Amino acid sequence: MSGGEAVSVLGICGSLRRGSYNAAALRAAEELAPEGLRIEQASIAEVPLYNEDLRLASGFPPAVEALREKIRAADAVLIATPEYNYSVPGVLKNAIDWISRPPEQPFSGKPIALMGASPGRLGTARAQYHLRQIFVFLNAYVMNQPEIFIADAPARFDTEGRLADEPTRSLLKTFLVALRAWALRFKR
Ligand SMILES: Cc1cc2nc3c(=O)[nH]c(=O)nc-3n(C[C@H](O)[C@H](O)[C@H](O)COP(=O)(O)O)c2cc1C
Repeated sequence: MSGGEAVSVLGICGSLRRGSYNAAALRAAEELAPEGLRIEQASIAEVPLYNEDLRLASGFPPAVEALREKIRAADAVLIATPEYNYSVPGVLKNAIDWISRPPEQPFSGKPIALMGASPGRLGTARAQYHLRQIFVFLNAYVMNQPEIFIADAPARFDTEGRLADEPTRSLLKTFLVALRAWALRFKR
């Protein structure tokens, strides 16, 4: 076995849309993952709107508790997100806000990688940079390079939602190898 130590990655998509390019990008990541890297998906679709009263009265909703547990158990988190109005989509920010509440918020010390797909020309760059800022406060370790901004998404995915663009597939492979190495630094 040449793959070495196994690394588990939790994939989170910042879009709830059935035909989401970002969900498709995460499926491509599963397909292209190198040996020794396993990607499992988690959904934020059931996370309610954040309400401090709810948390104080009855703790974390089950969907949030489940996400917190999965993040804790994973060696790294891979977020694929769209950009909404030059920033992080509300559904993703809302999920992060829930997950981040004490005690023992699970992003602290966690290796994270960001990617995003957009029909636009900047391929979610602005949303990704806002996420980086959020994760500074949450004390997560976001991988710096390589970065993946999948611009002009309709031209890179086929009608079945498969990542068809060879240069992007190749970059994604490189990105996942780097993510495995990044996660292993913190596992040791
Ligand atoms: C509320 C809203 C705001 C958007 N703002 C941006 C934006 O700032 N930049 C951008 O590149 N695309 C923007 N878009 C277009 C999205 O990139 C596009 O809908 C994309 O397909 C969403 O990702 P998904 O395919 O994973 O759902 C916006 C879409 C919505 C619904």
